[in-house]
Parts: sequence; C-alpha cells; structure tokens
Amino acid sequence: MTDAPEVGELTPPDRTLMGPGPSDVHPRVLRAMSTPLVGHLDPSFVDIMQEVQELLRYTFRTDNEWTIPVSGTGSASMEAAIGNMVEPGETMLVPTNGYFGDRMASMARRAGGEVVTVDAPWGKPLDTAAVQDAFDEHQPDVFGFVHAETSTGVKQPNVPELTDIAHSHDAYVIADTVTSLGGVELEVDDWGIDVAYSGPQKCLSCPPGASPLTLNDRAMDKVLSREAEPRSWYLDISLLEGYWGDERAYHHTAPVTNVYALREALRLVAEEGIEERWDRHLHVAGALKAAAEAMGLGLNPDDEFWLPSLNAVLVPDGVDAGAAIDYLLEQYDLEIAGGLGALSGDIFRIGCMGHSARPQNVAFLATALGEALEAQGADVDVEAGLGAMRDALNR
Ligand SMILES: Cc1ncc(COP(=O)(O)O)c(C=O)c1O
Repeated sequence: MTDAPEVGELTPPDRTLMGPGPSDVHPRVLRAMSTPLVGHLDPSFVDIMQEVQELLRYTFRTDNEWTIPVSGTGSASMEAAIGNMVEPGETMLVPTNGYFGDRMASMARRAGGEVVTVDAPWGKPLDTAAVQDAFDEHQPDVFGFVHAETSTGVKQPNVPELTDIAHSHDAYVIADTVTSLGGVELEVDDWGIDVAYSGPQKCLSCPPGASPLTLNDRAMDKVLSREAEPRSWYLDISLLEGYWGDERAYHHTAPVTNVYALREALRLVAEEGIEERWDRHLHVAGALKAAAEAMGLGLNPDDEFWLPSLNAVLVPDGVDAGAAIDYLLEQYDLEIAGGLGALSGDIFRIGCMGHSARPQNVAFLATALGEALEAQGADVDVEAGLGAMRDALNR
C-alpha cells in the first residue's frame, strides 16, 4: 500500500493567456462556476439548458433548433459533427492548409469515410476554384473547412462561395469555428453552413469542457436517417437529442458547472452585442498587428486573410522562438505559443481572444515581446511598435 500523497494547496501561477487558447477567463465566468451544483435533470437546470441553447443560437447567428453544447472539449464537438455526418463509405473533402484539417481527416477515417483533400499551402486559405475542382473530381458527400485556422492564423474568406459549391453537389458543409465563434464575423445561416462546431476556451473566454455545436434541419435529417449507427455512443447526436430535445431524458451526466460557465460567457457576448464584439476583436488585435509591423515583424498571412483572434507573427532572423516564449512566461507570466508542424520555429502564435482582447493586454504583450526579442539581439524597433499600437488603439 502506498502512503497518502502529501499534496499542497492548489496555487496555479497567475498567467496572462495570449496563446492559441485557452484565453483569460472573465471573472464573472469563474464566479458562475463556483455557484451550487444542481442535478443535470433538475427543473432549474432544464431552464439553464434552454437559455444556453438560445444564447448559442444568437452567437452562431442561426435559427437552428438543434444547437447544443457537447460535453467535452472542441475535439468532442468536432467528432460529434464528423462522426455523425460521415457514414461508412461516404467521402469527406478536407483541407490540407493547416493542422486541424488533418484532424478532420483522421476523424472522418475513423467514422469509416473515405478522405479526399483540397490543397492550399499552410498560411493560405482555400481557393474557390480549387474547391470547385475537388468537388468535380471527387463528388464528396461532406465538405469540411476551418474558418479560423489556429495553426496558421488564417481566416477563410469566401465561405458563401464554398457552401454554394457544396450545395450544388448535394453535399453537406461542416465548419470548424473553434477560433472564430464570438470573436470573428461568423454567419452560420446566411453563409449556408450546415454544421458548425466550436470550443468555449477561445473567443468565448470560458474554460474548456462544454463545446458548441449547431446543425440545420437538413443536416439533422441526414443524421437521424443514417443506416449505420455512429461509431461513438457518447457522441451519437440521435441519442443526445433525447437529453437536449423535448424529452429531457438521461443520456450522460452533463458537466453542470461547465454549462453554467458557458451560460455566463454567452451572456457576456449578448450583453456586449455580437457585432460589437467582432469590432472589438478587430480593433484590439489591429493594434497588436500594428505594433508587430512597426517593430519590423511581419505577419504570416496576407492582410486579406488575417485572423484577429490568432496573430501569426513571423519570428525575426536569428531569434530562437522557444527562448523568447520562455522569456515571456518566466519574466512576465505571459503565455504565447510557437508554430505547429510546417510553421514550427517560424511564427509566434499570439491570441487575442475574448477577455484577452483588451487594450491593456495588447500593451503588455507588445512591451514584453519587444523586450524578449531585444534580449536576443534582434533588430526590432520597440518604440515604433509601441507608438503604432497607441495610435491604433486611439483610432
Ligand atoms: C481550429 C481548431 N479546431 C479544433 C480544436 C480542438 O479543440 P480542443 O483542443 O478544445 O479539443 C482546436 C483547438 O485548439 C482548434 O484550434
């Protein structure tokens, strides 16, 4: 028998989170998480569930009845979307221009689907013509794209064009909105997106644990008329319907505290106004971008595809990205991240999401990053960067 371990009180460091997620959590969300637990079938919780669904519809800009938080992280809502929409033997078209397109491919294969790809380099969005060609060649049943690619800092433009192509081929569209929901313009209904999934820990500034998902009636009809059951029991939407639909019957024990948190995070979105929130992200992240550029640092994507919630700043020559990231964490308790995969060592990934998308965070970040780069002898003009940031914030 081992002795009882002696574990001290929990004292996590007080970080400022400006990496690819999680972002800083709003104090009101933390407070909501410390309110008393009720049962997941308690009548009071049923009201809370309805409120969360309404708030999610507002944030997704959809009237989809079937709009819920999936228990689990963003990968759970992602797997619920793909695992239910792709039936064995069906074909899913996925992008190759970032890390999360690969994850879509893995999930589609595990669902028994065939995977075909539409290619674009990391750091570029999908081109409409390339998507058209891929549809003509492969006739996929389902098309997935990443609206806000966290690995490259690229925002996919032309979404209505892509959904039109898919629908003219009778295919369904799944959008990854993990790093856009609540921070970057997203119009699920107007853009013709059939299924969108997201995560709470990015622009909603909520801890991970309950992840938004929405399906329109057309997608839901497909899910409910599948021949084969989805391979996951836990993420089977036809079973989740029993809990989140009118029946309110037990399926699994919902993460009550995470649902409270999401409710409060979404209430903050509704209070601010979704469009005002998109504008805030543009404004504050725009100041961060201005600071980086005036310092002499480039951004990886072209301006047209810049993603305000995730800024992919190029690492200047001679700088060790990992050492700069460590410097910020050690000296300032400030978290940013490096590049993934093909962009490893080439970019810093600086999040500007939700509660982290505030002028004081950007001012802090620009000052500390400038110092971290100067500490390595990089040729950066920190004063110019701070001046450009101030001008942009005052605009
Ligand atoms: C674009 C994108 N999709 C999916 C995910 C997966 O979400 P999670 O890590 O919460 O499971 C992430 C997480 O960073 C993401 O950025």
